[in-house]
Amino acid sequence: MPTPHISAKPGDIAETVLLPGDPYRAKWAAETFLEKPKLINEVRGMLGFTGEYKGNRVTIHGSGMGMPSLSIYANELITEYGAQTLIRIGSCGAMQTSIDVRDVIIAMTATTLSTPSRGIMKELNYAPCADYGLLEKAVAAARAKGTPTHVGGIYSSDVFYDERPDLTEQMTRHGIMGVEMEAAELYTLAARHGRRALAVLTVSDHLLTHESLPSQERERSFGDMVEIALEAAF
Ligand code: ADE
Repeated sequence: MPTPHISAKPGDIAETVLLPGDPYRAKWAAETFLEKPKLINEVRGMLGFTGEYKGNRVTIHGSGMGMPSLSIYANELITEYGAQTLIRIGSCGAMQTSIDVRDVIIAMTATTLSTPSRGIMKELNYAPCADYGLLEKAVAAARAKGTPTHVGGIYSSDVFYDERPDLTEQMTRHGIMGVEMEAAELYTLAARHGRRALAVLTVSDHLLTHESLPSQERERSFGDMVEIALEAAF
């Protein structure tokens, strides 16, 4: 401590960490929802802030896009800074007609073709899954807010520009609700280190209807997701 990617001092990072992909969303979320937010990291522009939510210490730190990037930050937060509860907050593309843009998806499991941890699993088809306690509290928080919310399996992809429409079709057929690019590795790392993890996602685009959320509306939808994640954590 500090680590190659995080310059925070010992004690600067809370036991509860929210992980948006985008560092500027980390800044916005910290300044909007936390009391006394303090910048604790800006190495490579990956901003992290620690503040308080209803009297509880929370860090909101960017993870970057994709599992290799998330893996760097989650590993360092867990092994060097003692993060216990890690909640991804981010966007996803919907894969079911029953799900609309702006809805929230809480990921019970995260299907993948590969993760940075794939190599150690060898022939095992490991099933990354969320912490049930966090999942239950997030669902209750979403219900209390009245946010349209779906709970089930998502797909963590290594590619945004996917050339495999056949694969999307199979996942839709098998009930996968949406696609993003980080949760499977977060769930795998949390399991490996005995920590709690969850992904709460806002639907920003739809793979079947091709609808997407206008940028001016993203902030409001993102806000519901941040509050659901914060309520789940404490
Ligand atoms: N995040 C938001 N939309 C996505 C999509 N369509 N594919 C992968 N990640 C996403």
